[in-house]
Amino acid sequence: MTYSRVVGTGAYLPEKVMTNDDLAKIVETSDEWIASRTGIRARHIAADDQKASDLALPAAQRALEMAGVSATDLDLVIVATTTPDMAFPSTACILQAKLGTAGCPAFDVQAVCTGFVYALATADMFIRAGQARTALVVGTETFTRLLDWSDRGTCVLFGDGAGAVVLKASDEPGIVATRLHADGSQAGILCVAGGVANGNVTGDPFVRMDGNTVFKLAVKALADVADEVLEAGGLTHADIDWFIPHQANIRIIESAARKLGLPMERVVACVARHGNTSAASIPLALDEAVRDGRIRPGHNVLLEGVGGGFTWGAALLRW
Ligand code: UT7
Repeated sequence: MTYSRVVGTGAYLPEKVMTNDDLAKIVETSDEWIASRTGIRARHIAADDQKASDLALPAAQRALEMAGVSATDLDLVIVATTTPDMAFPSTACILQAKLGTAGCPAFDVQAVCTGFVYALATADMFIRAGQARTALVVGTETFTRLLDWSDRGTCVLFGDGAGAVVLKASDEPGIVATRLHADGSQAGILCVAGGVANGNVTGDPFVRMDGNTVFKLAVKALADVADEVLEAGGLTHADIDWFIPHQANIRIIESAARKLGLPMERVVACVARHGNTSAASIPLALDEAVRDGRIRPGHNVLLEGVGGGFTWGAALLRW
């Protein structure tokens, strides 16, 4: 039996930082409101000339370096993004070229904030099926470009960034189990409804969200899919060494941890420093906990995503 295993992680945050106080200068809000409702203190903003692939490149290079893998060894590139460089080709193809390789399949996955978990599960299935042996999976977002900076209900929540992992085929897991879900009937609660047609922007080009509904659905989805993936992996809540949920809001993270019976000491939470970076949020948090030594060989790590679609999913990893 062939499994996949994460052998390298990497992350990149753009240089420019916007604090809550900076935001309070452009919209009716305060550091106190944002911090107490969301746990967010600051977010990073991509430079005008940085696209999703530009954020992805250093994150991917760092993951490849940790893995000791050359870009030319890759036989699969998957990018999760809601903010691709262009309508087409995919950001994965653009990243592949920037990495200086060609030939292997490269494609984007769009599941908004669950995108990284979808992409990871897809790469895992390629490797289990014998269709790839070395895969790069990236979550990258220039999400702040979708924000209406006059809408205080959304513009305080999001940031830009990228995170990446390299997966290799292995005789042992690695990725123990994954579970993915979607409910398209809830598309309207978190969406950018607009698009481009006939040379014009059509419809509303900004993020719109029913925050309360998203909050409630997110907490339930995270609890349900945790139970499901743990059962698939033959583990219980008590076996989880590290819980890495989508970094959207510290109150959602705390509620999900409470439902799992996990103390916050076993939760990786970095939402305070970069807000909700959508598909980049889970690999950003994973990279931080790997590099600072919290995640160690033998640990059971539960990754969970939730977001627009409505989508949600989980991946259970043995480190
Ligand atoms: O990947 C998933 C992405 N989405 C999310 O993570 C969003 C999930 N939802 C949330 O995180 C929360 O619902 C929010 C943080 C968005 C809102 O928190 P809340 O505790 O649900 O507040 P609320 O929407 O019930 O609003 C309470 C009040 C309202 O004022 P009134 O109507 O009571 O006078 C809002 O207008 O807070 C007001 N408000 C703000 N005040 C200051 C909303 N946004 C702000 C703001 N600053 N930025």
